[in-house]
Amino acid sequence: MTAMASKGARTASEALARRYRALLAGGCGRAWLERQLRHVQAMPDDLPDDPQQLPGWALAHVSAVAEAHAAYLRQRQEGGPRRYFANRAHALWFLQQVAPTKAVDGAWLHGTLRHWRDPRYHGLIRTFLEELGNGDPRCNHVLIYQRLLSRLGCLQGPPLKPERYLQGALQLALGQQCEQRLPEVIGYNLGYEQPPLHLLITTHELAELGIDAHYFQLHVTIDNAASGHACRALESLRLLQPSSAGEAFYQRLRQGYRLNDLGLDTPSLIATFDLEHELLGALERKRVYGQFMHSDRCRLQGRTINQWLAEPGAMAAFLDALQAQGWVERNRNPLHSRLWALIEGPTAAMFGVFSAYEKQLWHDWIAGSWQGPSVRRVMPGQWEQDLALEPAVPCAAPASTIDGLIAAMAGNRHAEPAGLRATRDYIRATGLAQGGPC
Ligand SMILES: [Fe+2]
Ligand SMILES: [Fe+2]
Repeated sequence: MTAMASKGARTASEALARRYRALLAGGCGRAWLERQLRHVQAMPDDLPDDPQQLPGWALAHVSAVAEAHAAYLRQRQEGGPRRYFANRAHALWFLQQVAPTKAVDGAWLHGTLRHWRDPRYHGLIRTFLEELGNGDPRCNHVLIYQRLLSRLGCLQGPPLKPERYLQGALQLALGQQCEQRLPEVIGYNLGYEQPPLHLLITTHELAELGIDAHYFQLHVTIDNAASGHACRALESLRLLQPSSAGEAFYQRLRQGYRLNDLGLDTPSLIATFDLEHELLGALERKRVYGQFMHSDRCRLQGRTINQWLAEPGAMAAFLDALQAQGWVERNRNPLHSRLWALIEGPTAAMFGVFSAYEKQLWHDWIAGSWQGPSVRRVMPGQWEQDLALEPAVPCAAPASTIDGLIAAMAGNRHAEPAGLRATRDYIRATGLAQGGPC
């Protein structure tokens, strides 16, 4: 790639992060979505040419995933290694990479809320309301993910590549354009709600690494093809496809379905993780703040720590120097490394300097091939049980009309107290309540 072309690609992808933020703030994504749809026009997909065959296609998908999952479990029972996450840092990195998408979970269906009088839309609306936990903060998917990141010390993660905002931006744009883009919304929903193999493997491996996999486990169950979101996606398509012009509708649905394939797929994203690269990145970002903070008594290979930190791009040599001088003994329990004692523990000299994620990077980089004692498997959701429903305080500005309630449920606003309240009010006002606490 020429320097000019790579600068062009960089600028285009930076625009993506800006686009995501603008959409989140309510900006219009119509023209941008049209460009994305043009982009996928010539892309292949695995949908059958005849929509009548979709139930069979969905069934085949479920069987293929179940079979591949059984093979995965067999491999693991026979002592095979984890397929996705080499270590805990790898898993934490992944959770942060997909955060922009998880922060708008369900957003592509927002525009269906306006059709509450039309029973053909109720399947899609119900799916959207379930993504929002029916206004219960314990069940709101966006909040469940936020709490997970917060507990893991990953809320302020490293800067993400702009491409990580692509799927989230698509979801927000589709949610806005439901009136003009209903076939595409249905197609996107059909693709997004089919439970994939990577969801099952992720759930398994996160729990194995001592990370609460409730968010992922929840999607295994709620998106199930027998009666969950995947099943409803098909049923909604059957109800909403027009009796005439069915072919044009289906072609547009396919374009929406293909939007799911834009950007890097989950297994490929997971495979791009490079532990040392991430550690170096974290140190490079921290370097600027640390270069005046160390005593000049701290020396490493003849240079003070402040001198090491003052030099851009010197962190790889710094890691080598730490090893050469015996501060770090890699491929052993990190507890044996002098550096680890400076980082970890309430009395550590550098207590609080590194975030939980950064400490995990250090830990796993030092540990290398050393396999520590196996981590206690965390039962999904064990942290969520004590969370109480927040008191029903009135919103600062009550959204009294249905339109006002719908507006308060857009983007990820529904995860704020006023949005949760609006969700519950919408359910009451439309008569769409379906039992349960809300
Ligand atoms: Fe969800
Ligand atoms: Fe879902």
